[in-house]
Amino acid sequence: LNNLKNRDVLTLLDFTAEEMHDLIHLAESLKEDKKSRPVYPLLEGKSLGMIFENASTRTRVSFETGMTQLGGHALFLSPRDMQIGRGEPVKDTANVLSRYVDGIMIRTNSHETVEELAAHADVPVINALTDSYHPCQALADLLTIKEHKGKLKGLKAAFVGDGNNVAHSFLIACLKAGMEASLAVPKGYEPDEEIWKEIEKTAEHHQASLTLTHSPQEAVQGADVIYTDVWASMGFEEEQGAREKDFSGFQINETLCADADSSFIFMHCLPAHRGEEVSAGIIDGIHSVVYDEAENRLHAQKALLASIM
Ligand code: CP
Ligand code: NVA
Repeated sequence: LNNLKNRDVLTLLDFTAEEMHDLIHLAESLKEDKKSRPVYPLLEGKSLGMIFENASTRTRVSFETGMTQLGGHALFLSPRDMQIGRGEPVKDTANVLSRYVDGIMIRTNSHETVEELAAHADVPVINALTDSYHPCQALADLLTIKEHKGKLKGLKAAFVGDGNNVAHSFLIACLKAGMEASLAVPKGYEPDEEIWKEIEKTAEHHQASLTLTHSPQEAVQGADVIYTDVWASMGFEEEQGAREKDFSGFQINETLCADADSSFIFMHCLPAHRGEEVSAGIIDGIHSVVYDEAENRLHAQKALLASIM
């Protein structure tokens, strides 16, 4: 996908629907191709620097193995060991890393840090989760929905839980794909106001229906896809107790799902907490596609890496 070369991946807001569809299509091909060709050296000799300021299982392992499968190399960089962790400016880090690597991936709390890094780096920068967005997750989510439902356009997706990073990116991706989307959050856990405006604009642009409600029952009514995420994201751990109270009634369980389409799929970016945001019966049951979703991080990111690097 030559038109994506050198593109930063910060929010997906600047990707057209066509570019997203092309990426998903490429991810499907790479996934199929991997069965007969474990290494497809599209990025031979190229390196990806991966800065992780927060914990990760899926993102780290999928990016690292993805680079290997593309014939390249990934470096795990922890601020605990880097000078950035001792106060070296983001600007200097961006400029210096650009002299060594062909792409930079970063997971950090502040979205502004990723923007600053991208502004100074000469190589493409990938947001691997901030407090505001999780674009790589959303790409894998669309791939997963397409695999299980055979299409995207016209489906109804419901996100129930915290109006967080994953919710923002999931809604953006679904609306761009022409899906109907509803978001149910407890009062006080609405999405970021500025980001919500962007989400509304995306819905308008793609003539896709978008609803924000405080009723999980309303959101899941007739849904083809039900999505949730943790109630307390990284950085909000001290609010866990308060959030457990505030989110009561927002658990995805058998009772709530009775209002969904009978062949709905259940999605969760993981890590999950059984008995909190989702019942064991749902996440371990027949509607759950969470492990396919986790696997698809690999294929979707390989498509992204091959395109931008
Ligand atoms: N879904 C996701 O990003 O998982 P990790 O935090 O394990 O990377
Ligand atoms: N919303 C969660 C997602 C983790 C992959 C967090 O930010 O911690």
